[in-house]
Amino acid sequence: MDMTPKRAVDSATEMVQVVLPNDANPLGFILGGTVMHLIDIAGAIACHRHSRTLLVTAAVDDLQFLHSIKVGDLIILKARVTCVFNTSLEVQVDVFSEETLTGRRQLTSRAFLTFVAIARDGQRIKVPPLLVETDEERRVCEEAQERRAGRLKKRDAR
Ligand SMILES: CC(C)(COP(=O)(O)OP(=O)(O)OC[C@H]1O[C@@H](n2cnc3c(N)ncnc32)[C@H](O)[C@@H]1OP(=O)(O)O)[C@@H](O)C(=O)NCCC(=O)NCCS
Repeated sequence: MDMTPKRAVDSATEMVQVVLPNDANPLGFILGGTVMHLIDIAGAIACHRHSRTLLVTAAVDDLQFLHSIKVGDLIILKARVTCVFNTSLEVQVDVFSEETLTGRRQLTSRAFLTFVAIARDGQRIKVPPLLVETDEERRVCEEAQERRAGRLKKRDAR
């Protein structure tokens, strides 16, 4: 297993697709569940690119849908690893709508997901560290550590 630290930019992932009628509710807006599915996929791809392991989704933080995305719009998902812990890592996924005729873009959701690296036999696997080089990257990772502490507290309270 190559444990060389990796930059977030090297695993950052952008997914774009057009919203088709099959993805929509009777109002012509993309289904929340479809957006959640795409968030999971985009986050997983970024984490796979970072860890090069199999992964499971351990947590998705509270998710809001700030604007609807209509049939014919583009849905754009940008995923970036924020922090690597031990066998787990956090990824931020920002979701945008883009009107095809005007190019108008809006942030519609921001999600933080935690993935755990796991072998086929169920063993947890250590994830290569994240190379944190700038003050901004340090801030992002520190915020992720705070969210992680909150998540684990919530899990342990159950
Ligand atoms: C996620 C899962 C692997 C955690 O296993 P566990 O035995 O409870 O947790 P462990 O104590 O072994 O912790 C493993 C890592 O997961 C992290 N973790 C566990 N539960 C977590 C949670 N609810 N939120 C965030 N991180 C969590 C731990 O912090 C640890 O990370 P670290 O090594 O970086 O410190 C396990 O609960 C599971 O398999 N859940 C089902 C996953 C699934 O089916 N997802 C959907 C389909 S992919």
